Amino acid sequence: MLRISPKDLVMPYFVAEGYDRKEAVANMPQIARFSIDNLCKDVQEAKRLGISKVLLFGICPRRYKDRFGSYAYSKKSIIPRAVAEIKRKIKGVSVITDICLCAYTSSGHCGILTKENKINNKKTIKALSKIALVHAASGADWVAPSAMAKKQVGAIRKTLDKNGFQKVKILAYSAKFASNFYGPFRGAADSAPKFGDRKAYQLDYSNGKKALKEIGDDIKEGADMVMVKPALSYLDIIKKAREKFSQNPLAAYNTSGEYALVKMGAEKGLWQEQKIVFEIITSIKRAGADIIITYHARDIAKWLKKT
Ligand code: PBG
Ligand code: ZN
Repeated sequence: MLRISPKDLVMPYFVAEGYDRKEAVANMPQIARFSIDNLCKDVQEAKRLGISKVLLFGICPRRYKDRFGSYAYSKKSIIPRAVAEIKRKIKGVSVITDICLCAYTSSGHCGILTKENKINNKKTIKALSKIALVHAASGADWVAPSAMAKKQVGAIRKTLDKNGFQKVKILAYSAKFASNFYGPFRGAADSAPKFGDRKAYQLDYSNGKKALKEIGDDIKEGADMVMVKPALSYLDIIKKAREKFSQNPLAAYNTSGEYALVKMGAEKGLWQEQKIVFEIITSIKRAGADIIITYHARDIAKWLKKT
């Protein structure tokens, strides 16, 4: 029998500047943007329920955004401060940080752009490596590059190792599709592209082979865990990755859009939230994911305590 345990789950959090803030996120009921003080309280509560892994996303004030996403790699940036505070206050929580530029660039794209608005891969992986280093130095246990820049995993691994952070692990967003299921997230993180789309760097959903190749490449570059994202429309990819890379830890990301569907259907009385969430999360685990990143994580842990 396949059973979901809080140990399988990662709870994502949006972290914002300020003090005593907890703001609702549009189209993501029960999900908030927390200032660091309130984030710590919520992580503590999640920990008490059995959630021992969190994934942090920073929200960059508009006035700090620029062409290079510089705020992302400042030591005073929101995520380094949040990680340090969680590590200082709460024991036994694994902190994973998202490594991307889209919340920090004025373009809203995941990389640094050339004058022709193409991704400058070299500059991008340099910037991503700097972000990873700053997060590692603040105490992150895992860094999770999500920009889909070429060779981002290898570049980050090298930078971390060179600076004495051999123990910091990499969770690679390896098979990240150009998906319609990220809408609410982009609102929450203020990271929607200001023009164009992400098809130049995220994967084409009609090409499953390419996704498997990306996963293999990331493992070769040193990823400690690889990821398929989104989860539900990509259970076939999860299953194939599980079979092809059977020795490698595998994560799946149950995204904001997938979360919103569940919540909105539940509000309309189409289904019972708890029941449909267990069905969905079990199916992702059944397909082969070891770890599931889901906005339902905290609720699932709560439900499991009651049953
Ligand atoms: C940033 C990033 C995105 C998500 C995680 N990291 C959004 C995107 O690519 O636009 C999506 C998460 C979600 O929808 O829950 N690169
Ligand atoms: Zn991004």
